[in-house]
Amino acid sequence: MIPLRLQEICRATGGRLVDGADPDRAVDGTVVLDSRAVADGSLFVAVRGEHVDGHDFARAAVDSGAVAFLGTRTTGAPGIVVDDAEVALGALGSAVLRRLPAARVVGVTGSAGKTSTKDLLGAVFATAGPTVAPAGNLNNEYGLPLTVTTATSDTETIVLEYGARGVGHIRYLTTIAPPRIGVVLNVGSAHLGEFGSREMVAQAKGELVEALPPDGAAILNADDALVAAMAARTQATVTTYGLAESADVRIVDLATDDAARARFTLSTPNGRAFVALSLHGAHHAHNAAAAIAAGLAAGLDLAPMVAAVEGASARSPHRMDVRTRADGVVVIDDAYNASPDSMVAGLHALARMKTTGRRWAVLGAMRELGVETETAHRDVGVAAAKLGIDRLVVVGPDAASIAAGWAGDAKVVDDADDAADLVARELRDGDVVLVKASNSERLWRVADRLVQA
Ligand SMILES: Nc1ncnc2c1ncn2[C@@H]1O[C@H](COP(=O)(O)OP(=O)(O)OP(=O)(O)O)[C@@H](O)[C@H]1O
Ligand SMILES: [Mg+2]
Repeated sequence: MIPLRLQEICRATGGRLVDGADPDRAVDGTVVLDSRAVADGSLFVAVRGEHVDGHDFARAAVDSGAVAFLGTRTTGAPGIVVDDAEVALGALGSAVLRRLPAARVVGVTGSAGKTSTKDLLGAVFATAGPTVAPAGNLNNEYGLPLTVTTATSDTETIVLEYGARGVGHIRYLTTIAPPRIGVVLNVGSAHLGEFGSREMVAQAKGELVEALPPDGAAILNADDALVAAMAARTQATVTTYGLAESADVRIVDLATDDAARARFTLSTPNGRAFVALSLHGAHHAHNAAAAIAAGLAAGLDLAPMVAAVEGASARSPHRMDVRTRADGVVVIDDAYNASPDSMVAGLHALARMKTTGRRWAVLGAMRELGVETETAHRDVGVAAAKLGIDRLVVVGPDAASIAAGWAGDAKVVDDADDAADLVARELRDGDVVLVKASNSERLWRVADRLVQA
């Protein structure tokens, strides 16, 4: 973090110094929630979780080099006590941004592809100057301000993922870090259980572009009607991207190679370029087009941006991570999460992988879909059958409806271990296996075991 003295942090967060915390000592290391990640100069933010209370680790954090802890009660260790650690962390993020007035915030939201696109935006903006876009999924009221704190005095661009589980969430995150450029990818059915309807999802995602200043830029998916309609909710300049003929940054002649990697021409107001992505799955054409559209809105040159998205590989774990075994078996670990849209995107990629063997889909439950749960799972089974997937393994009772939608003979197993046993037994040279479910299923264990085999 840019160095901030404890008294400055107190002022920003409305906290008070306790137990010998030195007002003039500066936090010049990382801001962390995990005491094991503390290093010299860190600030340890103590949060009370369901199972552990971070305050119990405040002393250990300070002993390991943290300047202080920030929490809601005294612990005997030097610290800053605030009313609400989550709010304080947001205020700290804002304070860091205020000290970096020249840094531009580029925000991304949508139902699927936020983290993937954040990584692509990171690559795009790094062509122009120092850019913050840490790997992983830091999109909530903790992760977003934590990302901001990783900025340094030379940072020119901060790429942030804005996640939402309800209306008002993104608005809150934009008060911490107001974006200058805002990208909205899609309005799908992820987390539909919490939102109730796609219109409510659109309401929530559009809060990102509502927060843009008039001289900012909104980057909207022309192929998603609910996203395109968000143009009416912002005063910023709108750039659209996608396959639609009307798109300002247009994907033309989209095809995939033998490994399901997108190849296309991007037609932009600043010229045309052929793009060949290293990422697997045709859906990344949209994510790459969005990232380049954002770069163009910021005045970046097209050619280096194209090179940057072409060179980008799966950076955040378990997202279309394709590994080939010595015997030619290909394992696609896309088990980071799953929604109806990303399931279909993953199955499309599987169907487009060239193989001399068979295509396997090892699929687990999709969470947080509310009343849509049963139908959504069945539809995934229908999609797998339509796409000509050869073998379906359904993992866990909550995913059973996937098998119901599949016309053939699906294997339904209890857990990841059983799935790995079954597939490992039956795999043949040249087979391709897609592994996918919601994050809570931790289905990447199947991919890991198959790769190790
Ligand atoms: N544009 C897209 N359309 C559909 N699926 C996509 C798209 N981009 C990525 N995906 C797929 O969605 C899944 C999640 O990707 P990613 O983690 O990038 O999304 P996210 O929006 O950050 O998810 P989360 O809500 O968990 O933060 C992966 O399986 C990925 O391949
Ligand atoms: Mg994410």
